[in-house]
Amino acid sequence: MKLIKTKAELRDMLKEERRRGKGIGLVPTMGYLHEGHLSLVKKARQENETVVVSIFVNPTQFGEGEDYGTYPRDLNQDTDRCEEAGADIVFAPEVEEMYAQKSAAFVDMDRLTDRLCGASRPGHFRGVMTVVSKLFNIVRPDRAYFGQKDAQQVLVIKRMVRDLDFDVQIVEAPIVREADGLAMSSRNAYLNPTERAAALVLSRALCGARQRIEDGERRGDVIGFDIARQISSEPLADLDYVEVVDAKTLEPLREIRGSVLIAVAARIGSTRLIDNIKLEV
Ligand code: PAJ
Repeated sequence: MKLIKTKAELRDMLKEERRRGKGIGLVPTMGYLHEGHLSLVKKARQENETVVVSIFVNPTQFGEGEDYGTYPRDLNQDTDRCEEAGADIVFAPEVEEMYAQKSAAFVDMDRLTDRLCGASRPGHFRGVMTVVSKLFNIVRPDRAYFGQKDAQQVLVIKRMVRDLDFDVQIVEAPIVREADGLAMSSRNAYLNPTERAAALVLSRALCGARQRIEDGERRGDVIGFDIARQISSEPLADLDYVEVVDAKTLEPLREIRGSVLIAVAARIGSTRLIDNIKLEV
């Protein structure tokens, strides 16, 4: 496995792979890799000749006062894990390599980014779309892999690819959870043991909602209210949003039917966590 720090070197290397007719899979990440990330790498390994994992904590997707400075980083451990999961190349540029000085062009989107995480993190998806576009242009992958953990992100990326004619197939993979149900996240590293226990309220509330829907409840607001009540009953949790929405448009659902996404975001202590479930009703 090769660790590459510059765009020029990566482009040269991939040019050679492409000349040999090799399919390229890209897994974009911000590092501090866990089994959730590695499930994407393993999937990419099965479906491509060459697997590139990018590791880049992208400053433009963090807002003022968010955790860009403290975001966990461990490149040595990450490269070991990538190698074990079967990656061929880790691309880990510095910020100065990734962004030209005074970069002035960005990728943006109407509507789909106004809601859920887009509402509580203004500018976040603009940063995500911009860096993912740059990675697509640098790597020119045949396939790119994203987790359902960030459900709105996958939707936004798919829409961007459609609307801007990127020649890449977006592959979505399910959420990988800890044994007790907590969705894996690099940010879980911030939680102390009490917060780690409190964080379970998110997956539990979603699980309870799934059960209520299976038992026949179809009112979106009732399900949403129920989840909010459960999360708010946890003293360490500060709810950001609960949304019961159409899984393709993110429009709120009065009646639960079709492809449904139930998404939550909450602060546990000072750590912002998200989780979701998707259902076909
Ligand atoms: P990051 O949070 O590092 O996540 C990288 C990829 O791993 C994303 O597609 C995310 O959905 C997926 N992922 C994270 N936790 C997961 C889990 N528990 N199960 C399955 N997949 C999981 O998302 C980003 O980075 C950035 O926004 C990025 C796309 C790299 C752009 O900077």
